Amino acid sequence: MNAPLQKVETLRWRNDHLEMIDQRLLPTEFKMVRFGSAAEVAAGIRDMVVRGAPAIGVAAAYGIALEARRLHVENEQTFKCGLESAFKQLAESRPTAVNLFWALDRMKSIWQSRQQEDAQVIAQRLLEEAEAIFSEDIQINRAIGRHGAELLKNGDRVLTHCNAGALATAGHGTALGVIRSAVEGGKKISVIADETRPFLQGARLTAWEMVQENIPVTLITDNMAGFMMKSGEVDAVIVGADRVAANGDVANKIGTYMLAVLAKQHDIPFYVACPLSTLDFSIATGDAIPIEERSGHEVTGFRDCQWAAAGVNVRNPAFDVTPAEWVTALITEKGVLHSPDTERLQQKFTCRT
Ligand code: MRU
Repeated sequence: MNAPLQKVETLRWRNDHLEMIDQRLLPTEFKMVRFGSAAEVAAGIRDMVVRGAPAIGVAAAYGIALEARRLHVENEQTFKCGLESAFKQLAESRPTAVNLFWALDRMKSIWQSRQQEDAQVIAQRLLEEAEAIFSEDIQINRAIGRHGAELLKNGDRVLTHCNAGALATAGHGTALGVIRSAVEGGKKISVIADETRPFLQGARLTAWEMVQENIPVTLITDNMAGFMMKSGEVDAVIVGADRVAANGDVANKIGTYMLAVLAKQHDIPFYVACPLSTLDFSIATGDAIPIEERSGHEVTGFRDCQWAAAGVNVRNPAFDVTPAEWVTALITEKGVLHSPDTERLQQKFTCRT
């Protein structure tokens, strides 16, 4: 058994503020940024200071807690309107990851059940709920890691896409959590990180996390994945998810669909690691999952460097949907579900306790 891995604090509550790593700057600069209001947190989510489905949910919950603390000294009407506006701003920050709406719903039900109470008491209760969402996320990711690690063999070379690591969650990670848990359990696992154009979460964030912990990692550009699979250099693919529809279709970072098709073609298991808060039973199939379209500037260049011809038309869908039939298994905190479909998902997960 090896020592527990991952010491990155993606988000933390300090001195009545939320602090988050500015993930836009990694890996060249490590900077924690302070947030004091829901509007600031909503902007941080929209601008990708924090990203990754579970981390977005946790940040939004703290955004509500911050706003309640900021406004509890105001009169009742201002407190109420301010909180309503905070829920709206945070819900509008990014559309695809359902964890955001799940966390906001959880915060809203606390607020709604306490409306007769003093604003200071409500604010305290909302902070406690945000802290519970934070700590539960780490426990959930550890459980995902334990279940997922059993699917990996000693020596496996695991390809992953985007960043579904500690930086995308409150800690440990989902897809990278499986890898961490397998390594903690004594298995030798190496990671192949897709660069993940256009925002480079793989090159910047996944590679950074793995290098920090001495887990062997090899970076490839996204268009090399087929070559690697055909050459027999990939034993499994593990990705995270932003939303899983009731039939098991999976929305995740753009490029995931391409990997699932390739994995199927090469008979390589394609695993999706995600918490139950990523399952959206209100949506029958992946066709109804809203796909965020981000600024074309992310495609025409990166940071200050622009390389595409000025004036070119650009598309930038940030996510795609992988049909359930190409998912070998979903790895959740409640265990592994092979060949997910509507019936199996209902049977295994509709009771969420
Ligand atoms: O645009 P991002 O960086 O928020 O996209 C993140 C992903 O697609 C992750 O794979 C997903 O949120 C799962 S994170 C545990």
